[in-house]
Amino acid sequence: MLEAIKNRRSTRKYQNRKVEREKIEQLFESVRLAPSGSNTQPWRFIVVESAETKEKLTAADNHQKWMLAAPLFIVCVADSQCRMGNHAVIKLDENSANPELKQIIRDTAIAIDHLLLEAENLGLSTCWTAWFEQNAVKPILHIPEDKYVCGIITLGYGDEMPKQRPRKPLNEIVRYEKW
Ligand SMILES: Cc1cc2nc3c(=O)[nH]c(=O)nc-3n(C[C@H](O)[C@H](O)[C@H](O)COP(=O)(O)O)c2cc1C
Repeated sequence: MLEAIKNRRSTRKYQNRKVEREKIEQLFESVRLAPSGSNTQPWRFIVVESAETKEKLTAADNHQKWMLAAPLFIVCVADSQCRMGNHAVIKLDENSANPELKQIIRDTAIAIDHLLLEAENLGLSTCWTAWFEQNAVKPILHIPEDKYVCGIITLGYGDEMPKQRPRKPLNEIVRYEKW
């Protein structure tokens, strides 16, 4: 497991090579098994292969042109209805204060990390992108207002081996017994 964690890199160059359907299915199996608060499983995923839709998403994601080389995008969505069983109609965006929003984002982020690590395990490369606003992305994919887009993941066979980005030392991030 630590090998996959160590080798994963945010990859922004991709080969012109299709990703096999079985590998995509295995990725989603890793996501399906992720833990979540009260086992709510609020994550939903939209696989995008259409060149036209990828263009639109890239434009919404701060025109990060490198994204277009990836054969697939996986749009990761957190669904508030998992916590608001009364089907309340709420509008979620960057300014929403709903406590449920934090919970569904937290849980969906766990599942996304499963996806990134399983992709690495399968010899695939990814980059989590999130340089967008909710109201720019949601209409492109007809995502309802009560959902929250946590990221657009580019996925494919990598065509670069980026250097490891620096990380903080353990003594800066881990404390024992108290803050
Ligand atoms: C929530 C999130 C959003 C990110 N958004 C972008 C993005 O919009 N564009 C991009 O090029 N990289 C993006 N990244 C990748 C980070 O820059 C990258 O994870 C970080 O620099 C560490 O590098 P590494 O992933 O190769 O270890 C994002 C990563 C995360 C976790």
